[in-house]
Amino acid sequence: MRPLITTSRLDLRPFRSGDADELHEVFADPLTHLIGDGPFTSIDQTRSWIQRRVELERNTGLLWYAVRELSASRLLGNCGLFAGRTGITEPENGYEIRHAFQGHGYATEAAHLVLREGFAAGLPRIWATIRPHNTTSLRIATKIGMSEQYTTVDQKGSLTFLASTPPLTHHRCNDAPTAG
Ligand SMILES: CC(C)(COP(=O)(O)OP(=O)(O)OC[C@H]1O[C@@H](n2cnc3c(N)ncnc32)[C@H](O)[C@@H]1OP(=O)(O)O)[C@@H](O)C(=O)NCCC(=O)NCCS
Repeated sequence: MRPLITTSRLDLRPFRSGDADELHEVFADPLTHLIGDGPFTSIDQTRSWIQRRVELERNTGLLWYAVRELSASRLLGNCGLFAGRTGITEPENGYEIRHAFQGHGYATEAAHLVLREGFAAGLPRIWATIRPHNTTSLRIATKIGMSEQYTTVDQKGSLTFLASTPPLTHHRCNDAPTAG
């Protein structure tokens, strides 16, 4: 996966230790960080989180990006791939956008970029695991081409698994081998 992806409005690059203060504003925000065990209460949790992502990157090549506004460089949120419940070879896509910036299509754009990046890096399948009540997240996964596979139940309730495979490669007619 490439360490820098830009579009006309977004800049994605992997988190580094210097991003901790800014990222902590996202992870400590009770309106935003509704996943996992809820909002972080200490900056050390955010520092450890970044450290784990740096190690994941070194060990697997999977990246988790800081999603920034290209123009002002403000941190909008985060998005990336991680081994999660489905493993390193078929990782999970995850995304989070700060409450103040939600509703502008940022998560959809970032998640789609990460999905394409993962396929360009050769991954055969990418998953998302989403609680059925998180309709916004389900909507994003569907919009970027993921489809529902099955639902399991864990200690927190139902969990829906969605997946996507790389788009088929189309060969032009003149790529076909010629006879004789
Ligand atoms: C889920 C999340 C990333 C969405 O971020 P976002 O940048 O607002 O998403 P988008 O703007 O790309 O919107 C995606 C879709 O959800 C809709 N949507 C966005 N915010 C919404 C809201 N607060 N209520 C209802 N629908 C909403 C959008 O209208 C859009 O659908 P549409 O294209 O049909 O109009 C964000 O709400 C978040 O960070 N939530 C907490 C973390 C989380 O749940 N992550 C996913 C874990 S599986």
